Amino acid sequence: MKRTILILASILLLAPATLHADRNADLIKYRKAVYSSMKGHMAAISRILRGRLAEYTGHIIDHAEALKQTARILPELFPAGTGFGETAVKTAAKPEVWERPEEFHKAAKRLEDTSADLAETVRSGNVKALREKVGAVGKACQRCHQQFRRKD
Ligand code: HEC
Repeated sequence: MKRTILILASILLLAPATLHADRNADLIKYRKAVYSSMKGHMAAISRILRGRLAEYTGHIIDHAEALKQTARILPELFPAGTGFGETAVKTAAKPEVWERPEEFHKAAKRLEDTSADLAETVRSGNVKALREKVGAVGKACQRCHQQFRRKD
């Protein structure tokens, strides 16, 4: 009985700290899942463009809108305590994410704007400009990675 109480008490005492660490590890897994979804949308867009799928061109609007919405939540995915070595889960995020939050926000905004522009281009039926606009979205990914993501 005494032992059970002791064990229970120590679990309760340790819980807040461990829960917090676990939550930050979960957060890193969550943000990686968000990035994977963005990769999926980009892959879907290039599949439409490269495959013989011209009748699906309208879907690019949906993928671009999804990217735009996701770009908006990116800055929320990097709370303090989720950097490299701070949890049991590895992250490729560079310390610069936390050191230069304004630049990081700008990089996310660039993705938001280029995705919105892509959706608009498809809506307006300007098929000729499509590749260039998709290229601009890809560059927004790349530029942020160059600045804020570790290579390995
Ligand atoms: C505002 C900055 C920023 C933008 C914009 C951005 N990324 Fe990233 N991306 C990162 C960072 C930082 C990581 C590292 C996340 C981590 O490991 O915790 C990452 C990781 C990833 C990963 C790896 C996820 C994993 O499972 O480890 C993929 C895939 C990815 N990004 C794809 C994209 C694509 C595709 C785009 C554009 C549509 C994009 N990213 C735009 C900053 C960005």
